[in-house]
Amino acid sequence: MKILLAALFATLVLFSPLHAAQSSGISGAVAYTEPIQFDYMKNGTRAPVQFWLEFKGTPASGTAGDEDYTPESGAIYYYLVDMEKKQKVDNWLMGFSMMEGPPPSGPYPMTNIRIIGGKATFTAFDMSWTVIDGGEEFAKDTVTVNDGFSTRETRLYAGNLTIVDADLDADADADAGARECLGCHEGAILALRATGGMHRSVACGDCHAGHPPEVARPYAACTDCHEPHADSMDEAACAQCHRAHAATEVSYMYNVPSQYCAICHEDAADELVASQSKHSDIACALCHQEEHKASSSCVYCHGAPHPEKMMKKTRTCVPCHKTAHNLKKAWRK
Ligand code: HEC
Ligand code: HEC
Ligand code: HEC
Ligand code: HEC
Ligand code: HEC
Ligand code: HEC
Ligand code: HEC
Ligand code: HEC
Repeated sequence: MKILLAALFATLVLFSPLHAAQSSGISGAVAYTEPIQFDYMKNGTRAPVQFWLEFKGTPASGTAGDEDYTPESGAIYYYLVDMEKKQKVDNWLMGFSMMEGPPPSGPYPMTNIRIIGGKATFTAFDMSWTVIDGGEEFAKDTVTVNDGFSTRETRLYAGNLTIVDADLDADADADAGARECLGCHEGAILALRATGGMHRSVACGDCHAGHPPEVARPYAACTDCHEPHADSMDEAACAQCHRAHAATEVSYMYNVPSQYCAICHEDAADELVASQSKHSDIACALCHQEEHKASSSCVYCHGAPHPEKMMKKTRTCVPCHKTAHNLKKAWRK
């Protein structure tokens, strides 16, 4: 079986992001040795040849068990290419006087395939591979192999590797910037994917213009794009409750000022103050800890304040003390 390089490149173009059908995967081939002169036919003519590695892999998609589930599939091939003839060499072992037959070029199984942005990781030959698609051609592509003892980056000499992350490419806007960042900031995309909510469709570069060392702190202000919840709130406040990569989650520390909560919970705040109990001076965040909408139970702070006998009838505190926001009213009535 002969594969013309031209045909190979035609396939590559077909699979490149611009033309890709939107499914994730790694494809393409790279030369991983320098050109050498080799008499692979054992007929006295030496031709310039290089060893190439070819990757074809698709991660699993969907949820196992569901109808739309597709299991992963992948293979690695390696072969010698005659650079002048631009064709794959079938039986290069002949050059070493080993005539038993063509060396198997693959497919060798590729498993545990994971695609994140421009990065693919997988297992092949019992080793962990990390491949980064750095853009057009091979100059910024990298192939790194860990055999369990050490990690080695393979030098590349020609070819091109293409990694398509359908999840990312589905949003052209956000994708435009993310691809450049992901080889180094995988954590950012994983966080955004899990909890970024609508920030997933905001381009990295819209929030991070520039990069260290040229720009020391490349962060757009939240208030460049959003109105604060009230005039009394400034940019510095946002980070007390929000993280840009986890925009769907609101969480805060015990010391977040209660007046920020009061912006949206005026009634609760007014009631608490008006009740003039010992709870009135307690910060909202001490009773509603860490996560928005959470509440601590009374016993979290008070333990068991009354003898068992007294608690027998009601079991809960509410009948005698009414609510945490309004202890006094319940008690003095
Ligand atoms: C070649 C690897 C690489 C690439 C590509 C890369 N970064 Fe970085 N980035 C780094 C390193 C290393 C640091 C830490 C540098 C420092 O603190 O001086 C960093 C730091 C950052 C920081 C934090 C700055 C701080 O406060 O310390 C942000 C934000 C950032 N990068 C965003 C991006 C974005 C957005 C992209 C894509 C447009 C990107 N980076 C591409 C390597 C990279
Ligand atoms: C809506 C604005 C926004 C978007 C979109 C966004 N970021 Fe960030 N990013 C921030 C802010 C704000 C911080 C610093 C505070 C924080 O951690 O929440 C940050 C922190 C970072 C950091 C340094 C801390 C860390 O998590 O490593 C890196 C790197 C980074 N972002 C990269 C990216 C990349 C890459 C993308 C695109 C995939 C991206 N960001 C998209 C706003 C954004
Ligand atoms: C470059 C513009 C930009 C910046 C900067 C930005 N955001 Fe956003 N944010 C958006 C857009 C666009 C949406 C989608 C909804 C909308 O249009 O308001 C959004 C949505 C959100 C949401 C709702 C998320 C959801 O999925 O429910 C929150 C919360 C949020 N932003 C908080 C912040 C905070 C906090 C910061 C600063 C760390 C920030 N944003 C910075 C553009 C931005
Ligand atoms: C005390 C905590 C707190 C602070 C501080 C805070 N937020 Fe929020 N923010 C929230 C909560 C809680 C929600 C969710 C409200 C809901 O579920 O409707 C929210 C929702 C949002 C949303 C999405 C819904 C919307 O209103 O569009 C945006 C955007 C947002 N905040 C931006 C900001 C910005 C910008 C700042 C800083 C100026 C800020 N927040 C400061 C608690 C806070
Ligand atoms: C931007 C507006 C906003 C801010 C700021 C805000 N909240 Fe909320 N909060 C909401 C909304 C909206 C709900 C949902 C109301 C509902 O489900 O009826 C809510 C729900 C809650 C609930 C649960 C209510 C229930 O019925 O179970 C608690 C408790 C709560 N908030 C506490 C706080 C605390 C404490 C703070 C300050 C750290 C705070 N909130 C800041 C908007 C806000
Ligand atoms: C001493 C503890 C305590 C303090 C202080 C406290 N809360 Fe609460 N809060 C509670 C408890 C307990 C509940 C009832 C929760 C339940 O039934 O699950 C509650 C309920 C709520 C609710 C939902 C029901 C309602 O009354 O609207 C909101 C909103 C709320 N608190 C906001 C706040 C805000 C804002 C502050 C600060 C101004 C605050 N809380 C201070 C303990 C407290
Ligand atoms: C975050 C901790 C916290 C939580 C949760 C909490 N309390 Fe308290 N409570 C306190 C503190 C602190 C005091 C003041 C103690 C003192 O000064 O001796 C107090 C005082 C009281 C008092 C005496 C009031 C007065 O004015 O003399 C009562 C009654 C009480 N709490 C009942 C409750 C009940 C009922 C709940 C649940 C609905 C509850 N507490 C939840 C911290 C808490
Ligand atoms: C059967 C009614 C009843 C129930 C149920 C009840 N209490 Fe009380 N609580 C009282 C009475 C009566 C007092 C004494 C008030 C006083 O001394 O001024 C009191 C006082 C307190 C005090 C103040 C103690 C002090 O030393 O000042 C706290 C705190 C308290 N209760 C918490 C709770 C909690 C938490 C629960 C639920 C686990 C609870 N109570 C259930 C009736 C009750």
